[in-house]
Amino acid sequence: MPGDKSISHRALIFGALAAGETRISGLLEGEDVINTAKAMRALGATVTRTGEDAWSIGGVGVGGFAKPAHPLDFGNSGTGCRLVMGAAAGCPITATFDGDASLRKRPMQRVLDPLERIGARPLAMADGGRLPLTLAGAHDPIPIIYEPPVASAQLKSAVLLAGLAAPGETTVIENEATRDHTERMLAHFGASVRVVPHGPHGRRVTLAGQPELRAAEVMVPADPSSAAFPLVAALIAPGSDVILLGVMTNPLRTGLLSTLREMGATIDILAIRSEGGEEVADLRARASSLTGVDVPAERAPTMIDEYPVLAVAAANAGGVTRMRGLKELRVKESDRLAATAAMLRHNGVEVEIVDDDLVVAGKGRVAGGSQVATHMDHRIAMSALVMGLSSEQPIGIDDAAFIATSFPGFIDLMHSLGANIA
Ligand code: S3P
Repeated sequence: MPGDKSISHRALIFGALAAGETRISGLLEGEDVINTAKAMRALGATVTRTGEDAWSIGGVGVGGFAKPAHPLDFGNSGTGCRLVMGAAAGCPITATFDGDASLRKRPMQRVLDPLERIGARPLAMADGGRLPLTLAGAHDPIPIIYEPPVASAQLKSAVLLAGLAAPGETTVIENEATRDHTERMLAHFGASVRVVPHGPHGRRVTLAGQPELRAAEVMVPADPSSAAFPLVAALIAPGSDVILLGVMTNPLRTGLLSTLREMGATIDILAIRSEGGEEVADLRARASSLTGVDVPAERAPTMIDEYPVLAVAAANAGGVTRMRGLKELRVKESDRLAATAAMLRHNGVEVEIVDDDLVVAGKGRVAGGSQVATHMDHRIAMSALVMGLSSEQPIGIDDAAFIATSFPGFIDLMHSLGANIA
């Protein structure tokens, strides 16, 4: 399994902000993460590939980014772009952020709102707070208390990264806890960060500003969001029995596992251990007969990237699966709510979008036979190919190129498991 994308972006950014040499192993060498590596280089860090998935970063210290000589191109990656925007917002530099046609459609105002309170200023941007966007970082960053209006780890992380350069405490109050890799990495690099529960599902995260970040070793565990594709493939392709090694089982990333098990999936969680400060396990998945379930909205932050492939499992299940509260899917690499529904509908599956819910009426089998429009979205592309593994007729995709943003070895891995992808 490839390295975790969220942790890979963060390892590069923290390495670039820390004093000394950070060594990273297991880095995801997908296009999204490589773009973040290039951005760190443009901002003054020394970034060297030292072996397969092994990288070394010479950092500049908190607040020490240099003005980049050219616009920073984040390609397809909202995470890379928003996190680096946060990190740059705490530095007295001006930088231009840009990306591909998909990223240029995605909302950036949500990040600018708190970053402006911290003291950064947008100098230019496209209509509606979109890329390309030029940001002047704060000369004297101000610590803030911020309550994000949406559950978003990117937003939380942008604020915390900007807050690193501010004196005093920066606080993010989340009503629904999102992935906590930034908090964990702050502590790992020597910052003082306090996390306490907030309400039934939330957390309050407080960072003491202007820490001396010290270079660290980072071991990147396997990405549960990438593992989701061979996992669901194993459940729906008759006769399958697949073991996925060393997959991160951070509880803020395991909503899909819980949901699939509720649907009746045979998934064994084996050899639970700790690697690089994260819990990992081997996942054994066997072909299973699945039943539709109701997926509560509160679970969404723990499986936000997994809905397209869960919808594929739901289409292969018996009965109705209702996935609730998916508004945020509309602003991912594509409008993922619409793209997922279209992927199913064009392949003979009964599906409806009701408000922000996706409702799939599974019949145990998918007819297939159609070409899926992927809209520059890697997860739609991989989900459609997985659906084709057990459909009556083959399923095509219009573009496989974006798979390389997160899972460059996907097609080879699926071939090695016996999939017939031409
Ligand atoms: C990510 C956060 C999520 C997720 C993305 C990775 C991160 O985005 O969809 O793939 O690494 O922080 P949001 O924060 O916009 O929900």
